[in-house]
Amino acid sequence: MKSNYHTVAACLTLFALAAIIPAHTAGGADNPTPKKKITMQNWGEVEGQPVSVYTLTNNSGMTAKIATYGAILTELHVPDKIGAIGDVVLGFDTVGEYVKNSPYFGATVGRVANRIAKGRFTLDGKEYTLAVNNDVNHLHGGVKGWDKKIWTAEARDTPAGASVTLRLVSPDGEEGYPGTVQASVTYTVLRDSNTLRIEYEATTDKATPINLTNHSYFNLKGDGDVYVHEATLNADSYTPTDATQIPTGTIAPVAGTPFDFRTTHPIGARIRDTGGDPLGYDHNFVRNSPETFGLAARVSEPFTGRVLTMSTSEPGFQFYTGNFMDGKTVGKRGVVYATRGAFCLEAQHFPDAVNQSAFAPIILRPGETYRQRTEYIFSLSK
Ligand code: GLA
Repeated sequence: MKSNYHTVAACLTLFALAAIIPAHTAGGADNPTPKKKITMQNWGEVEGQPVSVYTLTNNSGMTAKIATYGAILTELHVPDKIGAIGDVVLGFDTVGEYVKNSPYFGATVGRVANRIAKGRFTLDGKEYTLAVNNDVNHLHGGVKGWDKKIWTAEARDTPAGASVTLRLVSPDGEEGYPGTVQASVTYTVLRDSNTLRIEYEATTDKATPINLTNHSYFNLKGDGDVYVHEATLNADSYTPTDATQIPTGTIAPVAGTPFDFRTTHPIGARIRDTGGDPLGYDHNFVRNSPETFGLAARVSEPFTGRVLTMSTSEPGFQFYTGNFMDGKTVGKRGVVYATRGAFCLEAQHFPDAVNQSAFAPIILRPGETYRQRTEYIFSLSK
């Protein structure tokens, strides 16, 4: 009698669980809680191709949304010091706005992030000419970089946490680059900490430059400018640039400059002294101990208590404070984004590395695998 009661109860429980976990939910089965860790939604079409958004969650309040268009991180929700969950990345509500408008909000940038001088480089004695899409230079992979491609996606609940891998084949000659490249980017929301891990891989059939990054615009308060966010950068030096934002080739100490964030400073405190046009930070910092995976930057926001720490395998990172934002962009939930309304921490090899002998090379050859790993770790200030 008793065992019958248990059998019926167990069946009812299974039935109830089956009812709340839709068929498209991936990976929930071996999770102890019935909460959905991974869901997928249709998100319209781009050029007749369907676009999807994957939602990854953990048990500590982190939710990340990733679109197959541009392998874009569209939302990232984390708690503040009173436990209120908020979205800390800029973006749009619809994929159409990303297509029309986006200054690389949340995007996976490739085949080469940042600038290549005059869109030219020589590799193994052959000169290549790339698309020029930023004044006189090539920027972020060209006119139709990987941020504007539709990727395929596969979600899995892994021991580390809920995860989605997006894949792209970039054909030989795309935007002027040699070689067919097979690339993947895997986003994982860690099970046990509010960490978003991003891992990249790429292989090629001809030698080609590869330098991938994520271009999320963070605002730990959600909106407004980021002047009172406090930054600490693990960089004793940076790469000064010319008037077109191409590195001069020097690796200069940050000491005595507004680029010295070895001790904590509000982002806005010395922004007028940066000297750029428009003013603001848009510079590659040379990470201390660049040979090993480790700390790049820590940014905290005093009112919400949110803290973002970035660790990476990359030797550099572009610290960009949204200087080109015009203050008119209407983003998610109708919020108008302020000029310098976000900061980006774009982990990468140095800009224009293909033309700069003093910088670590970014050439990938057949038989090799490019790998990059970056973690955005969220915590709360004491
Ligand atoms: C990068 C560049 C900036 C700007 C943004 C996109 O961060 O370094 O100069 O082009 O992308 O607006």
